[in-house]
Amino acid sequence: MHIPLSLLPILGSLAQASPILPRASSWPNAPFTASGRDIKNSLNETVVYAGVNWPGAADVMIPEGLQYQSVSSIMSKIKDLGMNVIRLTYAIELVDDIYSGVDSSLKAAFIQALGETNGTKVLNQVLSSNPSFTENTTRLEVFDAIAAEADTQLIYVHLDNHVSKGEWCCGHDDGNAWFGDTYFNVANWKRGLAYMSSHAKSWPAFTSMSLRNELRTTSNGTGDNWVSWYENMVPAADGINAANPAPLIFFSGLNYDTQLATIVNGKDIGNGTTFSLDNYSYKDKIVWELHNYANSATNCNDIKGSLRNQGYNAMEGSASAVNKAPVVLTEFGFDQNTGSSSVYAQCIKEYLTTLPGGPGGWMQWVISGSYYIREGAQDKDETWGLLNHDWSDWRNQTASDYTKSFVEKTLV
Ligand SMILES: *[C@@H]1O[C@H](CO)[C@@H](O)[C@H](O)[C@H]1NC(C)=O
Ligand SMILES: *[C@@H]1O[C@H](CO)[C@@H](O)[C@H](O)[C@H]1NC(C)=O
Ligand SMILES: *[C@@H]1O[C@H](CO)[C@@H](O)[C@H](O)[C@H]1NC(C)=O
Ligand SMILES: *[C@@H]1O[C@H](CO)[C@@H](O)[C@H](O)[C@H]1NC(C)=O
Ligand SMILES: *[C@@H]1O[C@H](CO)[C@@H](O)[C@H](O)[C@H]1NC(C)=O
Ligand SMILES: *[C@@H]1O[C@H](CO)[C@@H](O)[C@H](O)[C@H]1NC(C)=O
Ligand SMILES: *[C@@H]1O[C@H](CO)[C@@H](O)[C@H](O)[C@H]1NC(C)=O
Repeated sequence: MHIPLSLLPILGSLAQASPILPRASSWPNAPFTASGRDIKNSLNETVVYAGVNWPGAADVMIPEGLQYQSVSSIMSKIKDLGMNVIRLTYAIELVDDIYSGVDSSLKAAFIQALGETNGTKVLNQVLSSNPSFTENTTRLEVFDAIAAEADTQLIYVHLDNHVSKGEWCCGHDDGNAWFGDTYFNVANWKRGLAYMSSHAKSWPAFTSMSLRNELRTTSNGTGDNWVSWYENMVPAADGINAANPAPLIFFSGLNYDTQLATIVNGKDIGNGTTFSLDNYSYKDKIVWELHNYANSATNCNDIKGSLRNQGYNAMEGSASAVNKAPVVLTEFGFDQNTGSSSVYAQCIKEYLTTLPGGPGGWMQWVISGSYYIREGAQDKDETWGLLNHDWSDWRNQTASDYTKSFVEKTLV
């Protein structure tokens, strides 16, 4: 929504009298489509994502932070940065439990993951911070509540399948690494994607979803090849699109989602087949996603070169990419107390905001100041979290200023 500058003071005083401005009823102008390197809304306006990851895929399988703050106050913090999207992560196990009739209430989920004593304590904190929930609210209803609040605050929801078994991600030996890995049952994964795609039809703010976060080799070194990628990702995308034709579908690459060149450039996947957008009836729904954590890089040109080589050439005006689609950097991030002035952080910002043809979209890792449980440690602090431990304020003003200015330069 473009507000003429001359109206801003009036809106400002209105906002003081009544904090809830009338919403633009047509927002979010979905469904979105992919048109060349750009995401377009239904008005054919270019939409660029600038947002943050809100994790909900670990052991409890409930979006983090709700023992400390309400859904609306967390969303307001995200809004304060000027962001327009959240990457909301979930585990396939959440859907498996629904199919198998496991009690998915908040009470059961917290006690299961944190034990009787701590689970009960944290549950009570969640209910006290979020009085609209009860112990019988289901995990999926918490996702619904977040999606509803996102709609209220005009923030798009990008759903991300982060893992199969709910746990901290990602390692080669965590069982969630590659199709067929210990916990990565392919049939359940496809069922889970289709389920969430269909379920999210009731969320007005829902605009896109991913196939899978950070594919990688398993502990025995298998996986991470394009033929197997192709044979799994394409039918899974077909399933999402059949269940709900509206969302954009994000295709991630190999090696922790750092490599997409083979697909973007339409090269032989290893058996004589090449990926071509033209083969898909929903080609205008396909978006590429990449991650970058080259945090220790000392030369910005190295970071730029590797991003470009791994798929960002699809974002260039008249470039070499055969399969030209939008590329979104769905993860990058840094320690909030040391990282915002690094070559890495400054370079990512510069690169994405100066791409030929306009800024590219991104979602920073991560909003969470702490986790219910991470790798066995309860109430685990997250030094990469934009928010502090109890999610009440920014962890580091310099770092949140970096993010705020990145948003401003992206949503020009
Ligand atoms: C959408 O906008 C682009 C320019 O950004 C224009 O080339 C195209 O024709 C428009 N498409 C429609 C359907 O209006
Ligand atoms: C329960 O919570 C307390 C305080 O947060 C923590 O010290 C303790 O380790 C937790 N118990 C378990 C089993 O993790
Ligand atoms: C939750 O469900 C149980 C079992 O149906 C019921 O006994 C209990 O009163 C419910 N709690 C709330 C807060 O509704
Ligand atoms: C390697 O791991 C995968 C996934 O866990 C498994 O399917 C495969 O059988 C294993 N291969 C070998 C040679 O152990
Ligand atoms: C290559 O592998 C994919 C995935 O299994 C398959 O769909 C395709 O037909 C194969 N291409 C050739 C030429 O065998
Ligand atoms: C996709 O399209 C390309 C070019 O149009 C073609 O060469 C390729 O074989 C197709 N692949 C499949 C799996 O249909
Ligand atoms: C906040 O981040 C900046 C930039 O990395 C750093 O210089 C500063 O020491 C950090 N502040 C605190 C309190 O850690």
